This record gives sequence, structure tokens and C-alpha cells, in this order.
Amino acid sequence: MPSQRQADPILFVLHSAFICLISMRVRTKSGPLDLRAIWWEDGAAKAIDQRLLPEKLEIVTIKTHQEMADAISEMTVRGAPSIGAAGAYGMALAQQNGIDVVDAARVLKATRPTAHDLFHAVDLMVSTGDGLVEAANKYADSIVEKCRLMGELGSSLIEDGMKILTHCNAGALATVDFGTALAPIRVAHGSGKSLFVFVDETRPRFQGAKLTAWELVNEGIDHAVIADNAAGHYLRSEVDLVIVGADRIAMNGDFANKIGTYEKAVLAKENGVPLYVAAPVSTFDSLLTSGDGIVIEQRSPDEVLNVNGVRIAPVESAALNPAFDVTPAGYVSGFVTEQGVLKPNELAKMLAE
Ligand code: MRU
Repeated sequence: MPSQRQADPILFVLHSAFICLISMRVRTKSGPLDLRAIWWEDGAAKAIDQRLLPEKLEIVTIKTHQEMADAISEMTVRGAPSIGAAGAYGMALAQQNGIDVVDAARVLKATRPTAHDLFHAVDLMVSTGDGLVEAANKYADSIVEKCRLMGELGSSLIEDGMKILTHCNAGALATVDFGTALAPIRVAHGSGKSLFVFVDETRPRFQGAKLTAWELVNEGIDHAVIADNAAGHYLRSEVDLVIVGADRIAMNGDFANKIGTYEKAVLAKENGVPLYVAAPVSTFDSLLTSGDGIVIEQRSPDEVLNVNGVRIAPVESAALNPAFDVTPAGYVSGFVTEQGVLKPNELAKMLAE
């Protein structure tokens, strides 16, 4: 599908100039700050500690690839494209510290199995050879640029007055800056469209309630956090559009995203609400013909059994904690990528090209 850039170059230039003014705006007591989720500074990687938001905005310094692997596993840095950038910076740290990059790649890839961007970024760094700090910076910049394009292309799906449901956090925190699912929402809001966002709280780690809501507050976008199990109620009555991110997408359009996405997709289809998946091409796994081959990360039962460090279930109870689920392509109205908005049956052609 031709992009708006191809369709109208003058509009594209004006729109891009407007979009370039937007980055992650953070309100602090001492005033607004422009921040990325992860960046390189003074010979080390720096990242927002996403585990502490929204109560505290703390920046961590990561000096070794092992520290980076721990930051990914413990979800200090999270969200597929941000994990990709973290992997790239982890490789740069390994090279800087004289560590064999193939060994470092193994350590970094062993952290979280589902997000494809991590594997894509680490493999890219292995094949780059020297100059990994520059390569990692370039990789992070390219993610942000792709997110800006997705925001621009996806914003045409949002009409004035729409109510939109999103799940987990697919905003600036998850993508170095700007967002995937939140990018079209930011652009639509910035261009003056009125909209409202239903934010699924996203048990068990509350990325919706803690992170998406924090980003929307910083952006001044009207929203409400809802319990995960309230989504069906609002899909039946008020939601016009669902936009989510993805961690890995198979060539047939089946996709993995945060646990709970599948049930939202089924409910959306049942109620005639379109569901769009916003993700860069780096999230597509060309080796997977369907979602059946996606490895689902299993996380600690403690994340389900405890809330903010307090046990909520009987001590005798076990818990199951899959971090992601797979939604079949049949529930997807379209994929918002940096190369255009595509139907599931158009993916293979786009990726082959
Ligand atoms: O476990 P997380 O918080 O890393 O999961 C994040 C998600 O599921 C996001 O929706 C996905 O990574 C897309 S982010 C642009």
C-alpha cells in the first residue's frame, strides 16, 4: 500500500516537521524533561527503571552486557523494540569491555524468548563487527524513526471523537521513544482530534495502569484505566477501535503480545470492533509460518501471587504466569508498520520485497 509520503510529499514534510517536535515528554517536579527509555551516555547505557514508575523516575547506569541481560530479565527495560535497543547496547558494552561478542550474544538472547526485536538486534550487532556503540545508537535512532512513521500512517485510522482500547504498554517506554500502538494516538491527539483511551491495567505486572497511564498523563491525553476483565463490557458498548503492539509476528499474521491480548481480540471481533497491531518490520519473524512456533515466556508465579510485594493468594496455592499469548491473524483488521498499513494477507508480499 502506498504510504502518505508517496501520496503527498508536501503534506508529509509538514507532518514530519510537526511530529519531530514530539518525543517522550516527562513531567517532573522541576519541569518537563525529554527522555528516551534507553540511551548511551559517557561510555555506558542509561535507562529509565520502568519497574519504579509511576512513583519514581529513576535512571540506571548499565556498564556490562551481564548487567544489561539482568535489566532485560528483570524488566528494568521492557517492550519489544526497547528490548531490541537494550540488546544492541548490551553488545556495545561487551565489545567495549573486551568480551567475545558471540558469548555476549548468547547471554543477551537467553533473557526473554518471545520478543523478536531482541534477537534481530543482537544478530545485527554480531554481523556488524567493529564500532558497536555507533551501530547501537543508529539502531535506537532507527526504531524511533520507524515509530514516527507508524504514528503518522496509523493516525489516519483514528477519527475525531473515537474511543480506543489498548493493552499493556506499547508507548515510548516500550520503544526507545514515541511508541507503536500509542504512536497513532499521540499523532491524532497532536493534530487536534478528540479521543479517549481505555487502558487495560494488564495484570500481573500492570504495564497499562503504571506505564501507559503515566505516558498518557504526560501527553495530556484523556484516558481511564480499567480492570482487565472490564474490557468486554466496554467493547460491547463504547470502544470504536483497538490498537495493540506485538512481540513477535509470524508470516501469516498470527502475533504474540502481552497475555490477555487474545481475549480482547476475540471480544473485539464478536462486537464488530476493528483491531490493529502496530509493530515495526523488525518484530516480524520470517522463519515462522504461523504463531504455533512462537515460544511463550513463562515468568515467576510470584508475579501473580503477590501485588506490590504483598501475598494475595493462600500460601498453599501455585500460579501459572505466561507472559504472552498468541492471537490468530483472523482477528486482525490490519498491521500498522513503517512501510504502510497492511492486511494480514498482504504481509508476505511486503516482507519479501
Ligand atoms: O512483558 P513486556 O512488558 O515487555 O511486554 C510488552 C508488550 O507486550 C508490548 O505490547 C509489546 O512489547 C509491544 S511494545 C511496542
